[in-house]
Amino acid sequence: MKYNFLDDYSEGVHPEILRYITDHNDGQQLGYGHDAYCALAAHRITEAFGVPGADVHFLPNGTITNVTGLAAMLKPFEGVISPSTGHINVHEAGALEATGHKIIWVDSPDGKLTPDLIDEALSRYHDEHTVVPRAVYLTQPTELGTAYTKAELTEVVADAKRKGLLVYVDGARLPMALAVPALDLTPKEFGALGLDMFYVGGTKNGGLYGEALVITNPDLKPNFRHHMKQRGALMAKGRFMGLQFARLFDSDNLWLSLGDNANRQATRLHAGLQELGVKFDVEPVTNQLFPIMPDPLVKRLSEDFGFFEWQPLDDGHTMIRLVCSWATTSSHVDDFVAAVRSALALT
Ligand SMILES: Cc1ncc(COP(=O)(O)O)c(C=O)c1O
Repeated sequence: MKYNFLDDYSEGVHPEILRYITDHNDGQQLGYGHDAYCALAAHRITEAFGVPGADVHFLPNGTITNVTGLAAMLKPFEGVISPSTGHINVHEAGALEATGHKIIWVDSPDGKLTPDLIDEALSRYHDEHTVVPRAVYLTQPTELGTAYTKAELTEVVADAKRKGLLVYVDGARLPMALAVPALDLTPKEFGALGLDMFYVGGTKNGGLYGEALVITNPDLKPNFRHHMKQRGALMAKGRFMGLQFARLFDSDNLWLSLGDNANRQATRLHAGLQELGVKFDVEPVTNQLFPIMPDPLVKRLSEDFGFFEWQPLDDGHTMIRLVCSWATTSSHVDDFVAAVRSALALT
């Protein structure tokens, strides 16, 4: 195996984060997130997003963050509107539904929600015989590697609020989206959108594990730690998540530069593949690419590289997923492009 483009969590931990953990390993700290490092990380995160009054909680992975956050927002008969491709809808084994909340999904070719799609979801639900749509679930960037621009995100958040819906953003890869200059969205502008809850990922951005959930809506803050505890998401050794996020959000903005590396390498990979005539259904914006390749080429490449065969298409082609990470280098990308070039020359 020359290199694995399967995902952005096959790498180890960024050396700066590991060093920070080792440097602050000695001594005792209170458990369950009451330690000094979680407090420091929470402070740095609220500063970065310009949300001084927000609560920040550290949870071990994306699925438990989505389940805990969304279920805490909803009454038993309420549901959440999601694009069909939303991670909660397709890749979390029905975790949210297992809490009793329906996911009201709408088809979205580019993975984004729009005011029209929200209307479509609302139009299906009327009275006490149906669930009540209460929240929208957005992912920035989306599971298809696309991302909302500032204008798009502002519009959809304002629209959802006007319609009385709560807004939750899954930011497993938020650092990548905020590192794209063309999206024109700074962390403080993101924080000022009026989201009710969002999380920023550490697992996919150089951390050991862990996500930081930010609650800005005061109504959703009380007893949130009880929700976490009940779902097994309150970590006794939470200090290590605090340390990771304290380092990621230190003054050098490591969180953004790691996202930026992942994006830059994906942009190089995209350009290299396009030059060879490879087609893309959706134009990539961040660190995930979904090229469409003939099946024999996919088979040949899989001998040397790791990637997901995302979706078989009916004409002898497959859409694959290639993910670049904070640790992907130019030579990893060049090797892949060279392998595609030589495989195409042979056919
Ligand atoms: C957008 C998004 N949300 C949530 C998750 C779930 O994260 P985990 O696998 O850590 O539970 C993922 C994981 O791939 C993801 O891509």
